[in-house]
Amino acid sequence: MKKYLCLSNRLKAIANLVSGNVAADVGCDHAYLSIFLAMHKCDYVYATDVREKPLERAKENIKKYGVEDKIKLILTDGLSNVPPSVDTVIASGMGGKLIERIVFEQDWLKNKDKHLILQPQTFLMELRQKLYLNGYEIESEYPVIEFDKSYCIISARYSGCVRNISLKDAVIGRINDSNSKYASEFLMRRYKKYKKALDGLRISGLDKQKIDKYEKICNILSEWK
Ligand SMILES: C[S@@+](CC[C@H](N)C(=O)[O-])C[C@H]1O[C@@H](n2cnc3c(N)ncnc32)[C@H](O)[C@@H]1O
Repeated sequence: MKKYLCLSNRLKAIANLVSGNVAADVGCDHAYLSIFLAMHKCDYVYATDVREKPLERAKENIKKYGVEDKIKLILTDGLSNVPPSVDTVIASGMGGKLIERIVFEQDWLKNKDKHLILQPQTFLMELRQKLYLNGYEIESEYPVIEFDKSYCIISARYSGCVRNISLKDAVIGRINDSNSKYASEFLMRRYKKYKKALDGLRISGLDKQKIDKYEKICNILSEWK
């Protein structure tokens, strides 16, 4: 049986945020995060995936690390069939729109005792906006940079306060409060991403509304260019 599991910086940062005892790892894939949590942090983990292949791999990995009694694998869409008794929900490495759907379709997450740890691969700005519009509050954010990739990990929970946040808050989020060594680099990379997209939009000249929006976003991020 294997005793040591070395996670990527991204998964390590996610695991560091977990303080509850019973977690759901949605879209677990290889289940490395679930295994790490079962070995070091949680009493029990529900690991879900919508595809059979990743769950087969996850099952083998779970056996390798001897944590079969602490992880339940569920073949399901999002959090369907996960008991509402879980105190921590992790959805990482998936698109922002998918994460939105997975979170907002579960009313039992509208509870301040449920901790959400979300790491969207796309639509970060939109996910921030939607969280507030649905009564969730972002408590903190952690940027992680690994090789050529940058990630933002959001820690959030339901507050019941529905808010429309400003474009600036949607673009920057709470990255600057993180005190992370990656904060400036993360925002600089966001600037570069939007600037590149803006340059492309300007060449085509078709979507004036989008050009206007991206100009505003680049303006907000220009402090880090
Ligand atoms: C790129 S992997 C991310 C794995 C892991 N969460 C991580 O952060 O490294 C995305 C996983 O999400 C799964 N997935 C996609 N849509 C899903 C859904 N609706 N419900 C559950 N899992 C889903 C995919 O099958 C895939 O295994």
